[in-house]
Amino acid sequence: PVVALIFGGRSSEHEVSCATAASVLRSIDRSRYDVLPIGIRKDGRWVLVADDPEPLQLTAGRSPEVSGDQAVALPTDPTQRSLVVLEPGAPPRQLSEVDVVFPLLHGPFGEDGTLQGLLELSDVRYVGCGVSASAVMMDKALMKVVFAGNGLPIGPYTVITDKAWRRDSAACLDAAGALGRPVFVKPARAGSSMGVVRVDDPADLRAAIESARLHDPKVLVEAAVEGREVECGVLEGRGSDAPRASQVGEIEVADGRHEFYDFEAKYLDGSARLTCPANLPDAVRDEIRELSVKAFEAAGCEGLARVDWWYRPDGSLVLNEINTMPGFTPQSMFPVVWAQAGLDYPSLISELLELALD
Ligand code: DAL
Ligand code: MG
Repeated sequence: PVVALIFGGRSSEHEVSCATAASVLRSIDRSRYDVLPIGIRKDGRWVLVADDPEPLQLTAGRSPEVSGDQAVALPTDPTQRSLVVLEPGAPPRQLSEVDVVFPLLHGPFGEDGTLQGLLELSDVRYVGCGVSASAVMMDKALMKVVFAGNGLPIGPYTVITDKAWRRDSAACLDAAGALGRPVFVKPARAGSSMGVVRVDDPADLRAAIESARLHDPKVLVEAAVEGREVECGVLEGRGSDAPRASQVGEIEVADGRHEFYDFEAKYLDGSARLTCPANLPDAVRDEIRELSVKAFEAAGCEGLARVDWWYRPDGSLVLNEINTMPGFTPQSMFPVVWAQAGLDYPSLISELLELALD
């Protein structure tokens, strides 16, 4: 089958997506799949890129970026329902003639249902969640409503919409202040901790909200949850089978350089340690796996998702979030927890493609 890998994109997680693509380009089973690497530049332009992982690596001191001008164009003929991929010097290819698309995009304009909608309209199969699960799980405010409505445990929070902030920021600050301290201020629709600020002093709240608003005019303020950060991968079942949960992993931000699991700790300075399986009682790990499957189903996920939890000192669990396109390098939590469950990285990629082609 022909697989189009789509990566880069217009979100603040462009570089993370490039890193994900580098890893998939390296490990996808070339004896089974023909690969068409399509990058989306930061300005939104779709381009064909070289089938070469090296320039897409993310390391401290280097931010990879999709570049180039090899055009991938939308159809100019409105009667043509599918996307046209134009390769200079070669005949145009219909994106709908690709057997499957693997969206390796994180954040808005990729992980949020927009690309998924385009692919539905183009009648092409793709890996991962559909339009609504992608959209709702991209929005931390809507996500909470779905979790709460399904009886999944969440922590206290408040949402600050753009209009509410502009109308009465003092009331918004009051609502956020009522959550106690510390709080986390987060753009509602972003990822990789972009724009997330921990606030210990209420005097810093306004600045934190303003800085989150640079990423998204819709902002969420959450009471900090004390506890260990544990995560579980879920894969859709084949056919009518139930979803499958991976091993449970734990994240520790080791050295006190970070107040939380922020962007640097995640990708750049190696200070985050992933432990898998997490050192927890068997019964707790089983509960996390079971609840992660429940969350996956409640959210209407397909393909894959990583479900992130807090394990509190009193033994209870709080659901932090679901990521429908989790970090996906071999060192990232989702592939690590699946490797521990017996599915290595190349097999995980094949499994996701098979699920989409099923
Ligand atoms: N948003 C990043 C990629 C994650 O959830 O892993
Ligand atoms: Mg996220």
